[in-house]
Amino acid sequence: MSAETFPAIIIDREGDGQKVSFRSIDETALPPGNTLVRVEASTVNYKDGLLLSGAIPLIQSFPMVPGIDLAGIVEWSDHPRWRPGDRVIANGWGLGERHWGGYAGKCRLDGDWLVACPDRFSAKQAMAIGTAGYTAMLCVLALERQGVQPDDGEILVTGASGGVGSIAISLLARRGYRVVAATGRLSEEPYLRHLGAASLIDRAEFAQAGAPLQKERWAGAIDTAGSHMLANICASLRYGGTVAATGIAQGADFPATMYPLALRGITICGVDSVHAAVELRQTTWKALAAELDLGLLKSMTNEIALADVIEVAPTILAGGVRGRIVVEVGT
Ligand SMILES: NC(=O)c1ccc[n+]([C@@H]2O[C@H](COP(=O)([O-])OP(=O)(O)OC[C@H]3O[C@@H](n4cnc5c(N)ncnc54)[C@H](OP(=O)(O)O)[C@@H]3O)[C@@H](O)[C@H]2O)c1
Repeated sequence: MSAETFPAIIIDREGDGQKVSFRSIDETALPPGNTLVRVEASTVNYKDGLLLSGAIPLIQSFPMVPGIDLAGIVEWSDHPRWRPGDRVIANGWGLGERHWGGYAGKCRLDGDWLVACPDRFSAKQAMAIGTAGYTAMLCVLALERQGVQPDDGEILVTGASGGVGSIAISLLARRGYRVVAATGRLSEEPYLRHLGAASLIDRAEFAQAGAPLQKERWAGAIDTAGSHMLANICASLRYGGTVAATGIAQGADFPATMYPLALRGITICGVDSVHAAVELRQTTWKALAAELDLGLLKSMTNEIALADVIEVAPTILAGGVRGRIVVEVGT
């Protein structure tokens, strides 16, 4: 009997570059692993755009199935935590870079990388959250670990209309923070206010090199941009403030000075989602299940088919996606 086939996006090496295709594969093609998951849904994050475009050489071996996130059902497992029928999520751990990821009907992987999908979320809702939303909550938790509280003052969120930004705004507003959304798309004001932003600021105000110490404004910030934006945030954090820094939408450089650290005691808190410990992931997903407004999540989400991921990749890299994208993988 021939093996069941399923659709997949595959990235192959082509000369010095790479070639992306959409085709059918079967289980025998999957790399080894102690758990087989039938993928129901995935998503498109900024990093998925990077993997699909090859803009930064992140892929460690070819051929590669990209997709840094997946949600689905365990079909088979040798791992002590998982049984057939369990509803699971995977985010990061090198999926799509070193290990075949979520843009295929099935994924064989290490059961250590899975977390249980909270009962409150369907597979599609879990992927509407995805790495972006889980990172947004990691950032909120990081600010609070540093002692930032709602009555301390305004919190700035950069990349506000994007995935991390949209979910961060809704989570912070729900916790009672006054959120200022930094965006290049001021036309998205109704959307950003609907998510919970108290006011908007043009990201152009942060985009160029600024003075090393500026007027103290932010009690905290969640930054998805890096580069000058992160440097200007540091220069305008209040005494003792914290920025949770997680992204590079403006650039991976960090042209800053020591003054805000040495003279204002600010904290730059790096936030990594890829290798976050399982316990932290479980805490984060539990907090998302307890707090995230599913109506707001729906209002920031669009759904596409697996084959359509290929054409969305350049759009997300160009900052043209609003909110989140769910990819329907299962039939
Ligand atoms: N460290 C981690 O583990 C981790 C996890 C998740 C995400 N990230 C990073 O966080 C960033 C955001 O991810 P995402 O999935 O939310 O991406 P996204 O949906 O594409 O959102 C990025 C947003 O950044 C803003 N932006 C675009 N170009 C910019 C520029 N040149 N300068 C300043 N802002 C710009 C845009 O928002 P506006 O139009 O509203 O300005 C855009 O929507 C990415 O760099 C991603 O790699 C890191």
